Amino acid sequence: MPGSSVGPSTALTIEPFRPAVHLGPAAELLAARHQRDARLEPALGRRFTVLEECRALLEQAWEDGARGAVAVREGTVAGYLLARSGEGQRGRHCWTQSQDAAYSPAAGPAVLHRLYAASSADWLADGRLHHYVVAPSADLPLWLSLGFPHEQVHAILDVPTATPTEAPHGVRKAVPTDLEALEPLLGLINEAHAAPPVFAFTDQPMWDVLRSGHLELVNDPAVAYWVCEGRDGIDGFVVMPPVPDEEASILKPEGSVELLLAATAPHARGTGVGRRLTEWALADAGQRGHTVCVTDWRAANPFSSVFWPRRGFRPVAHRLHRILDPRLTGPDHVAGV
Ligand SMILES: CC(C)(COP(=O)(O)OP(=O)(O)OC[C@H]1O[C@@H](n2cnc3c(N)ncnc32)[C@H](O)[C@@H]1OP(=O)(O)O)[C@@H](O)C(=O)NCCC(=O)NCCS
Repeated sequence: MPGSSVGPSTALTIEPFRPAVHLGPAAELLAARHQRDARLEPALGRRFTVLEECRALLEQAWEDGARGAVAVREGTVAGYLLARSGEGQRGRHCWTQSQDAAYSPAAGPAVLHRLYAASSADWLADGRLHHYVVAPSADLPLWLSLGFPHEQVHAILDVPTATPTEAPHGVRKAVPTDLEALEPLLGLINEAHAAPPVFAFTDQPMWDVLRSGHLELVNDPAVAYWVCEGRDGIDGFVVMPPVPDEEASILKPEGSVELLLAATAPHARGTGVGRRLTEWALADAGQRGHTVCVTDWRAANPFSSVFWPRRGFRPVAHRLHRILDPRLTGPDHVAGV
């Protein structure tokens, strides 16, 4: 990462992120960002408006391998951008989590533009063509302008307080012996993701873990695994685990419940199965003391992108995924004349 000025007309310089120097100022920017976001969406909670919480989050990010740069103007950190390197199922990539980027309101989002310009050249040189960013909704315009399209929507909902006391007809908790009847439904989410227009890459291991994964969820007493029985078997399921305290994050407030999985058999879709399951699962979560529910879905999924907002989920962040043209690393690409 060069320590040089990024443009002759500005005093903004880009420097490598050094935790000893930059953790404190970066935590301040992050806390200010979350104050903005919690004002826009109170269900996110105020935990990460606290400087020490943000500092701990960034220390953890550094420990987890997040590396990057800061933008400095007149001796003050005006923004930072970190990313974690990885490969495999997600391609050879750099991944910026929600806490890995923030800018000072005075400097504005253009600072992230500069930081991305400075960092992404190194990512490309390292053959990292896949760039992922989890951006708060308020910062979406900046990332979209940098060529990042939507991949995943992260959303939140206040769990209803007025709760029905009885599960709707056919809705009950799953038991391990339901796995046989559930089998035809287990791959429906993968199918929806692999199909057009989502076109998510799904490899064999993602299919291999389905049965064992669902059995684990059914057997976990902390997880609310609801099924809806139809005339000829199970028509749908909704799975809601609590968010463990150690997994609470900027997008998953402490004490929240997560709507993790849901699917309805194709023959039963559009008949209210998913709605009844979701309403009851949320009512049950309320009875267990949860006040907030989080979920996420593929932006291009024609089912979930309609269904979850209709259930009241409000987007708070988007995971964006930019794929650079592979020819950029080949001999035919001319970087300048
Ligand atoms: C998303 C899914 C669970 C919805 O379940 P469902 O049982 O068909 O939903 P319902 O019959 O209860 O429909 C409830 C509402 O959504 C609407 N709806 C459902 N699917 C819809 C679609 N594809 N397009 C538009 N509206 C739709 C219904 O008209 C109904 O409207 P309302 O909100 O006014 O009440 C189901 O489509 C599904 O299994 N999809 C494939 C797997 C998947 O993508 N799961 C989500 C992973 S995040």
